[in-house]
Amino acid sequence: MNAKKVTLSENKICDNRPIGIMDSGVGGISVLRELVKLMPGEDFIYYGDSAYAPYGTKPAHELIDLTMKNARFLLDEGAKAIVIACNTATSVAAGLLRKFYPEIPIIGIEPALKPAVLAKEHSRVLVMATVVTLEQKKFGDMMHLYEEDADIIKVPCPGLVELIESGHLKDDKVIEYLEKKFSVFKKEEIDAVVLGCTHYPLIKNTIQQVLPNTVIYDGGYGTAKQTKRRLEECGLLSDKEEGGQVVFYNSLGTDEMLEFSRKLLELPE
Ligand code: DGL
Repeated sequence: MNAKKVTLSENKICDNRPIGIMDSGVGGISVLRELVKLMPGEDFIYYGDSAYAPYGTKPAHELIDLTMKNARFLLDEGAKAIVIACNTATSVAAGLLRKFYPEIPIIGIEPALKPAVLAKEHSRVLVMATVVTLEQKKFGDMMHLYEEDADIIKVPCPGLVELIESGHLKDDKVIEYLEKKFSVFKKEEIDAVVLGCTHYPLIKNTIQQVLPNTVIYDGGYGTAKQTKRRLEECGLLSDKEEGGQVVFYNSLGTDEMLEFSRKLLELPE
């Protein structure tokens, strides 16, 4: 790895190597947007593993192998830190990855359940996520912490990632999927929805259209803040204030996927 640490005149340590971000596909771009907004001087390398998406229905051993492979790629490209912008990979593999690379800051996204629960007393909170995320002990423990304060309902959404990966962000297909998913609830009784998969913020406006009176939460901003905090602690922030670059890689290797990725980064929220 090419270490490029420099010491600034005021004795502040900084590091201008890029931050590596990974996801099963384009979902992590919702986290990348927050990272770019918060740290516009940083360079980023984004790795989307669309050839192996979705992750959310795969067995744990496969998810560990894929996450390890993605991390190796980002580190070989010179990343100074890794953001696992995938709730599924975080819940299954973040602990192992941290053990394997103890010297690298590894930040993982988690469903933003806490702010959703605390926003209102005894609220009804739906958590949309992948089957794997909702089945993991990590989520079970988090849910246990808040289950007395709110009515928390798990809403696994198999098939939704595939729709988003193939570009269905606001058309009838995705609206139909969401309407069917929420048809078992009384919409007016849903206080909050937590987007526990990084693909879902890419269709946040569509979800809001289907649930106009519900407050929507996602973990992107919190993850960006946590990343900045960790880099600061480790003396790894860039010394640039702006002008950071984003480089996209995708395991599908097609121009269309890279073009779609760039478009999603620019998408107005
Ligand atoms: N975007 C990912 C997550 O946050 C993975 C979705 C998938 O590939 O199933 O969980």
